[in-house]
Amino acid sequence: MKYTLLTGACGGLGGAFAEVLASRGEPLFLTGTSAEKLQKKREELAARYPALSVETCVCDLREEASRRALFSFCDERDMRLARLVYVAGVDTQMAFEKYDEARIVTQARVNLEGAVSLMRGMLARCDLDGTAEILAVGSMSASTPMPYFALYSATKKGLEYQCMALHEEFKGRAKVTCVLPGSTPTREDIVENIKTHGLFGRLSQKTPEQVARASLAALSKNRRRAVIGFWNKCLRAATSVVPMSVKLRFICKKWSKTEKDFFAGK
Ligand SMILES: NC(=O)c1ccc[n+]([C@@H]2O[C@H](COP(=O)([O-])OP(=O)(O)OC[C@H]3O[C@@H](n4cnc5c(N)ncnc54)[C@H](OP(=O)(O)O)[C@@H]3O)[C@@H](O)[C@H]2O)c1
Repeated sequence: MKYTLLTGACGGLGGAFAEVLASRGEPLFLTGTSAEKLQKKREELAARYPALSVETCVCDLREEASRRALFSFCDERDMRLARLVYVAGVDTQMAFEKYDEARIVTQARVNLEGAVSLMRGMLARCDLDGTAEILAVGSMSASTPMPYFALYSATKKGLEYQCMALHEEFKGRAKVTCVLPGSTPTREDIVENIKTHGLFGRLSQKTPEQVARASLAALSKNRRRAVIGFWNKCLRAATSVVPMSVKLRFICKKWSKTEKDFFAGK
C-alpha cells in the first residue's frame, strides 16, 4: 500500500485535500502540529470511509528532528509513499518593522525549508518509475514581490522555483507541480481580508474544494506550475506586462491597509 503524505491536513485547504483524496480511496498519511486535531480528522474520515487506511503523525515542520521522526515513523512501519502534498504554510502580512525572529523563522521554515526537506524524504521512499507525485501549494502572492507580505511572497517564490527545478530533474521518474491559488476562504481572517480587497478579492477566490480538485488535476497532468482559476490566470498574464515599479507602488498602498498574523491568538 502506498500513501499520500499530506501536510497541513487539519487546516482549511489541507482538510479539503484530505477529503478529495479520501473520496478517491487513496491511503492517507496525515501530519499536523496537534495530535488531538489529527485524531479527530482520522475519526471523521474513518466514519465516512471505513475501508480507508489513514495513518497520522505529529510533525512540527520547523524542526529538523521532528521531520526526521516523521520519516522514522514511516520506516518503522515499512510505509511506501506514492505522493507528497505539501499544504502547510504560514502567512503573515504586516509591516516588516513589526516582525520578530519567531515570525521570520517560522514562516521561512514552514513555507520553504520544511517543504524541501519533505521532498527529499518522500523521494527516498517512493518508486521513481514515473508514478511518484509531489504537489506543493504555492501562492498567487509569489507572482510579484509583495510589500507588507514580503517574506511570504519570497518563501512561496522559493517553493515555486524548487518545484520547477525538480520537475525537470525528475522528468520520467516523478511528477512535480507547484500550484498557485488565489484567495481561498479557509479562515476568518482570510475571509475578512478577501472582503477588504473588494471585487479583485471576490473574483480571485475559489473554495478549498475547488482548489484541491484543480491542484490534483494539474498534478496528474504533470504541470510544472499551475495558476488556479480563470480570473487568476488572466490577472497574472495582465500584470506580467505592468512595470514592476507600478506594481510595487499599487501593492504597497493596498496591502498596508490590512494585517494578517499567523501568530495572533497563538
Ligand atoms: N487561504 C488562502 O487564501 C491561500 C491562498 C494561497 C495559498 N495558500 C496556501 O495554502 C496553504 C494552506 O493554507 P490555509 O488557507 O488552509 O491556512 P490554514 O488553515 O491556516 O492552514 C495552514 C496549515 O499549516 C500548518 N502549519 C503551520 N505551522 C506548522 C508547523 N510549524 N508545522 C507543521 N504544520 C504547520 C497548520 O497545521 P496545524 O493546523 O496542524 O497547526 C495548518 O494546517 C498554505 O500554504 C497557504 O500559504 C492559501
